Amino acid sequence: MKILAIESSCDDTAVAIVENRKVLSSLIASQIDEHIVYGGVVPEIASRMHIEAISNLYKEALKQANLTIDDIDAIAVTYAPGLVGSLLVGVSFAKGLSFATGKPLIPVHHLRSHVAANYLTSADLKPPFLALVISGGHTHLINVKDYCDFEVIGRTRDDAAGECFDKSARALGLPYPGGVHLDKLAQNGDNAAYSLPKPKVENNPLDFSFSGLKTAVLNTINNSKQKGLEVNVENMCASLRKIVTDILLDKIQKAVELYPTKKIVLAGGVSANSEIRQRIKDYCENNGISFYAPELKYCGDNAAMVAAQAIYEYENGKIAQLDLNAYATMDIQTLK
Ligand code: KG4
Ligand code: ZN
Repeated sequence: MKILAIESSCDDTAVAIVENRKVLSSLIASQIDEHIVYGGVVPEIASRMHIEAISNLYKEALKQANLTIDDIDAIAVTYAPGLVGSLLVGVSFAKGLSFATGKPLIPVHHLRSHVAANYLTSADLKPPFLALVISGGHTHLINVKDYCDFEVIGRTRDDAAGECFDKSARALGLPYPGGVHLDKLAQNGDNAAYSLPKPKVENNPLDFSFSGLKTAVLNTINNSKQKGLEVNVENMCASLRKIVTDILLDKIQKAVELYPTKKIVLAGGVSANSEIRQRIKDYCENNGISFYAPELKYCGDNAAMVAAQAIYEYENGKIAQLDLNAYATMDIQTLK
């Protein structure tokens, strides 16, 4: 089954065509250059840029796959969660395509598609598994029981891991989105230079909290400035990357105790982080657990991952009508 998928939940417009976990084309128009001057995504600009990019990306995706729309079996689209104005551009375009061609329309949850990015990289991967989804807006530990059966066993109470990286990076003067720059600078830093706090989260041992850590970074930077001292950027990047990895690894270990598993899957933009990937992989290898992470090009937002999940949503009967809406928030477990 050939699926043409569209993703526009934040600041990347993406169109891809995928057949049975094989990517026939995958295009992304990044808006980073437009948002960089504001230090973050401006929703109105994002919506306008999706509108400008989407038609050409659609044509180019078909061209690169050497197909016409007649060869496509279904249209998939991210419909939640995300910036609602951005999502609406993709959803409207997908509805138009479905109406014009009569092909089924498959709505896909953004975090489900991040998990499915792993199916593109590991053709043999099947649920059940435990997934750690770490992105700019979400940090979830998920018991993936089946392709469309998700149980969230831990989640952040406040900021996401990506947000903690991005806000700290911004305070250190790094360009948006800071996570990737922070990761690079950390390579040359001393990760013991700054002592940062590990949050305590009451009640659910698998829940996360990153806002205290972010505040600690900002306070260290401000206190240094007040004393006329410079923060060593590389050392701070290395110290923050290490503590975030320590926290994630701690939660994974606890999750494995409570939900024994033979497979651990990383997903989301932050899963591109070199230390997080390496240390979770080492933990898995030392504990007889198979480790999966998407190829770097499928860690961040892309449309190939949307198509990868769409096939299972379709098989599960999740087919939308033309009244499909976009939603800023939606739980991964129970879809609208
Ligand atoms: O999944 P994603 O592309 O968008 C959302 O759905 O949020 O994730 C974006 C996040 C941003 O916070 C970005 O800074 C972070 O992923 N990120 C990284 C790295 N590459 C991207 N964070 C840490 N290390 C990286 N190498
Ligand atoms: Zn994402």
